Amino acid sequence: MHTASPQQKVPHLITPLPGPNAAAWIARNDRVISPSYTPAYPLVCARGWGCTLEDVDGNLFLDFTAGIAVNSAGHCHPEVVAAIADQASKLIHMSGTDFYYGPEIELAERLAEVAPGPAPKRVFFCNSGAEANEGALKLSHHFTGRQRVITCYGAFHGRTYGAMSLGGSKSIHRHGFGPLIEGIHRIHFNCERAELEEQFATVCPPDEVAAIWVEPIQGEGGYRMPKPEFLPMLREVCDKYGMLLVADEVQSGIGRTGKMFAIEHFGVVPDVICIAKGIAGGLPLGAIVSRADIMNWPPGSHASTFGGNPVSCRAALKVLELVQREYMTNATERGKQLQAGLQKLVADPATGFAEARGVGLMQAVDVLGSAGVDPNRRNALVQAAFEQGLLLLGCGKAAIRFCPSLCVTAEEVDACLEILGRVARSTVS
Ligand SMILES: Cc1ncc(COP(=O)(O)O)c(C=O)c1O
Repeated sequence: MHTASPQQKVPHLITPLPGPNAAAWIARNDRVISPSYTPAYPLVCARGWGCTLEDVDGNLFLDFTAGIAVNSAGHCHPEVVAAIADQASKLIHMSGTDFYYGPEIELAERLAEVAPGPAPKRVFFCNSGAEANEGALKLSHHFTGRQRVITCYGAFHGRTYGAMSLGGSKSIHRHGFGPLIEGIHRIHFNCERAELEEQFATVCPPDEVAAIWVEPIQGEGGYRMPKPEFLPMLREVCDKYGMLLVADEVQSGIGRTGKMFAIEHFGVVPDVICIAKGIAGGLPLGAIVSRADIMNWPPGSHASTFGGNPVSCRAALKVLELVQREYMTNATERGKQLQAGLQKLVADPATGFAEARGVGLMQAVDVLGSAGVDPNRRNALVQAAFEQGLLLLGCGKAAIRFCPSLCVTAEEVDACLEILGRVARSTVS
């Protein structure tokens, strides 16, 4: 197991936050960087190892964000770094659109092997989660010849036009950006079949629907777990009407939930899977893995200059190896420990928490105020945890998510729970 290299106990804060170096960087940032970003707190990162993040003032933080569920093998895992360095010294770029190289082909073979279902698969590489969803949208239209798509309220699929049109988690994502793509119909995550049939009977002819789009566990929408029957019901509807089931596993995939893909917990085989975030240990890479017969678009119909570049692919091959070798098991074990700890905190009324939920290292808890779930108290709590050296992120209306790297240790989970409990008790209203 890869753990922190320097022996200092983490967190370890040596300046007020932000420290002087961080404050100077943030002042420069605010003059030149797009204001559309949403930093949760003033953390200016310098380096990281495992689940430890050091800022530019030498403060050490316990990172339970993994860079928004990305650094699956921890910050700068030595084997991932070595794979990147080795590949960078041989070939950094040649564009998989027009040339061939081994790492891209090898990674496609590995992804085709680990994707659920016995049917042969094909893989398209891109650079991000949004691009994976965008490409899958084109693919679903191309394969079925149909133009409508069904998605869920609370879903997040990215910020390009197609991906934004599919999403439905926050209206700020769309505000001022219309018109969006037409023909997107929305159902409630965890709805009954009757809600779909109602759509089909009233506004959305089923034989015009290319696909049903779903995050098996909703991510940005609040780490919402599906009811056991929800995903099988979507599969049945897709089979009945000839629609594709597209699983967006950008946040939940690549071992985070203790299985390679979250949908495997629910016994459902999707037709298409969108992957990004955790796949390449922090390098940009996205992928669409689809049944081979579906990915039948002709040369020229879709491509990306950087998609599947050799360095990202080599990093991803190493991450997949580590995930299968040790981190999927660790995600299951540490996830149980984390969930049990969160449930204990929920049971203590002095914390003001509700509904611990999740699987593996995709866990969340709702934050309560005096009148129900309370986004302001959630934000204050995330800030207070930062001031104690614990990095957390919100999701959904008023939840805190816990998505550490899959290498997180039992001691780090205990440390997170201890700080969280202390901070929650001191901020309960
Ligand atoms: C489920 C899901 N899909 C798509 C995306 C978009 O990914 P990216 O930011 O890489 O475009 C995200 C990002 O949070 C996500 O969680």
